Amino acid sequence: MTEPSFRAPKGMQDLRGDALAGHVRLERIAARLFEGHGFREVRAPLLEERALYDRSSGETSEVVEKQMYVVRREDGDYALRPEGTPSVVRLYLQENLHKSEPFQRFWYAGPMFRYERPQKARLRQFHQLGVELLGSADPLHDADVISLGARFFAEAGLDGVRIKLNSLGCSNCRPAYREALLAFQREHAAELCDACRARMEKNPLRFLDCKAPGCRALRDQAPRIVLCADCDTHFGEVRSLLASAGIAFELDPTLVRGLDYYTRTLFEYCHSALGARDAVGGGGRYDGMVEEFGGPPTPGIGFALGVEATLVALEAAGRPPEKAAASIDLFVVLAGGATRTQIFGVVQQCRAAGAATSFGEPGKSVKSQMRAADGAGARHVVVLGETEFATGRCRVRDMATREEREIALADLGRACASQAR
Ligand code: HAM
Repeated sequence: MTEPSFRAPKGMQDLRGDALAGHVRLERIAARLFEGHGFREVRAPLLEERALYDRSSGETSEVVEKQMYVVRREDGDYALRPEGTPSVVRLYLQENLHKSEPFQRFWYAGPMFRYERPQKARLRQFHQLGVELLGSADPLHDADVISLGARFFAEAGLDGVRIKLNSLGCSNCRPAYREALLAFQREHAAELCDACRARMEKNPLRFLDCKAPGCRALRDQAPRIVLCADCDTHFGEVRSLLASAGIAFELDPTLVRGLDYYTRTLFEYCHSALGARDAVGGGGRYDGMVEEFGGPPTPGIGFALGVEATLVALEAAGRPPEKAAASIDLFVVLAGGATRTQIFGVVQQCRAAGAATSFGEPGKSVKSQMRAADGAGARHVVVLGETEFATGRCRVRDMATREEREIALADLGRACASQAR
């Protein structure tokens, strides 16, 4: 046998069987929780105009600078979405929601694309579960959104998630902080890593989450942000709301996250099983993005949770992998003598009666079809051949109890149906 000619692109996974079941479980938990908190699902294209990300995620962010998959066509440059937030803000404005119904809660799930060095829980196509709330700057929403992410991990069964929290201030207090950080980095330029030195004039904040040992050591001496009165009150309110609900968090003044659009509240959900890049999810406020896209000043806040990161953390925490769930009510094993028309007729009849019905491969032995029925996780199995069609009776086996009973062929669907018709 020769080697197959094609493999999935590096850092991208085919999902099937139990691995897929893990994803589906988390998606279902998210859908139920997010909808239950008043968020409505949106599905935006996987591709957006490239400029959308330059203007939001930020030209100096790693995501835009190095990680975008860009598609060039005659009518312009597009990018496979590296994250969901800019699409949601774009659709909010495109559909004029800022005029008709400015307060909106959205959620989304799906693949994102970043050209990263693949490693455990780091992929080039990965999946996020996200929420975005637009149209309110009230700290109540900050606390509610943060608590929603925490609830997701609790329901997923992941213990040990720590919440890191910071405030990056607003257009009043951030500029002075930026200047102070820049002055500090100029003073210590020789000790900075090459990347931080190269980008400090454009984005001095990124130094704070640089993983290079020299930058890390320097970070503790770096100036801290002094919030303006409004940001200070806002942040104080977020902290006291979280505390009042018993949601534990750690203040981390060096938390900046990799995206340029954040203002005020910033948070990350972290798990020690992931190593140095330990975020299973993260988010924050982006009170300037709607305006940046040409809309009126409109605050926003949201998060995205990483599906693969959560699954890796769950596995490390000892949760057994998900099993692909059975959804077949009846598996028909084909014995000799029955015609295709007879088999097809019974299968259609059973489906019409509400039984999810599948069948074996014609020409294969009864034994091998039985194995297939077992592998498919069917709840009932019946063998149909010449005798059954001649007598109009058959024996159905309940695969859980292994009990068999004889019934009329005409009742087969009803006897196996899991959904009442
Ligand atoms: P982010 O921190 O870039 O935020 O991504 C959120 C989560 O997605 C991360 O914590 C991580 O678990 C997962 N993730 C990111 N990159 C990868 C990767 N290459 N492989 C596997 N998992 C990954 C955002 O994307 C923002 N849009 C979140 C947000 C929403 N902020 C406000 N609203």
